[in-house]
Amino acid sequence: MSEVSLLKQALRSVVAGQVNAAADPYRPAWHLAPPVGLLNDPNGFVQHNGRYHLFYQWNPLGCAHGAKFWGHWSSVDLLHWRHEPLGLAPAEEYESHGCYSGSAVVDNGQLTLIYTGNVKYPDGSRTAFQCLARENERGEFDKTGPVLDLPVGYTGHVRDPKVWQHNGHWYMVLGAQDLNLQGKVLLLHSADLLSWVSLGEIAGSGLNGLGQFGYMWECPDLFRLSDSDVLICCPQGLPAESDRYQNTFQSGYFVGQLEYDAGHFPHGDFHELDLGFEFYAPQTTLSDDGRRLLIGWMGIPDGDEFYQPTIEHGWLHTMTCPRELTLENRKIIQRPAHELQRLRGEEQAWQGIAQDAPVWDITHAEVAIGTEQPFSADLGGNMTLAWDGEWLRLTRKNRRSGEQEQRVWRGALRHLTLLCDRSSVEIFINDGEAVMSSRYFPDLPTQLTFSGKQPITLHHWPLADCVIE
Ligand code: FRU
Repeated sequence: MSEVSLLKQALRSVVAGQVNAAADPYRPAWHLAPPVGLLNDPNGFVQHNGRYHLFYQWNPLGCAHGAKFWGHWSSVDLLHWRHEPLGLAPAEEYESHGCYSGSAVVDNGQLTLIYTGNVKYPDGSRTAFQCLARENERGEFDKTGPVLDLPVGYTGHVRDPKVWQHNGHWYMVLGAQDLNLQGKVLLLHSADLLSWVSLGEIAGSGLNGLGQFGYMWECPDLFRLSDSDVLICCPQGLPAESDRYQNTFQSGYFVGQLEYDAGHFPHGDFHELDLGFEFYAPQTTLSDDGRRLLIGWMGIPDGDEFYQPTIEHGWLHTMTCPRELTLENRKIIQRPAHELQRLRGEEQAWQGIAQDAPVWDITHAEVAIGTEQPFSADLGGNMTLAWDGEWLRLTRKNRRSGEQEQRVWRGALRHLTLLCDRSSVEIFINDGEAVMSSRYFPDLPTQLTFSGKQPITLHHWPLADCVIE
């Protein structure tokens, strides 16, 4: 379809659907959600001229995956976002089945997008091109076209370029599937973003001491944190174990040292980034003040996503809150970006036996829980969080099967922070040692009720609305 037709269709969809979407009681008060249609991965997260830019995988035409567009928001404070001109529409032959995920860099002062042009053929086969687009004076993106064809030795599943600069050179990590159907991450370099030279595979299934580790690795991201290099990636095809890899697809990281010249990345074990029901395809950026910030998709590409009730209001999925990453003992610690504290209203504090705790409204609120003792908490009749002294369990009813399902963390609990926003809760364990991000669809207004006979310390702040302008 021509770009004009695609934009006309997208506009009709937004104009026709925005009232219904905005009226959804489950629409977040302060998280990013699509105006209409389906949102998935965060893309092109970058700070440029004092503004953060966040693009997003977007199907404006319906609550289904398909030929993705790039939506575009910007913000000076990570709280108040505004809509920017649509980033990319899948109009060209080299991106006929979607402008898939990618990243943004500032090249000679110009915001530049590097993304995957996804192409499917009638016989079921596919290919992928890595493409460039540069911002013009109207805040729109002019496409340069493909700068990298499918590398030899891989299937058509090669995508999600993340580009950064190091010692005056551009580097790219790419998610890939080799011809033996093993997931890999490729490293490439370039002097000008236009011609790319391969430095080989730096990680993947069967590499660096890993056994079989998935048939495809999506959305890689590589960055320096403290004295290490961190590779984030999303392996697909890891079998579920009793206390990890519980979601359909995983999202996690390796800590190591990237040897740029040799193209080697010796690394440690894989750790999941988030243990909740919905988290995938995160992307990071370095802020002007030196923080490594991460935003994830609060969704998972599995069949269950289509049972979420917001579909009746014509929209699906949200982003996570922005988080700051640090490395402690070779593990990533995630904390909500400090800017979020500005959303806090009046603080209430309480201390006593858990079951005597006041019932608080957590429709959009932050709750801090201090305890090492067992307790359980009901979130709006739709989700329970229970700590038994060894396991923290988050339980809800699966919307497709009606069966109970749970996600777990094991350790020594001291503290929890819950960030709630109408249909989502992000749980930060022990000040960011682990996180559980999940969507839920509670009774509204949502009440938090504690049970248990042990002492607990609680703080509560309502969080202000932050409408996208
Ligand atoms: C991850 C992903 C990416 C791809 C995009 C398509 O969720 O599958 O690998 O680029 O979504 O929307």
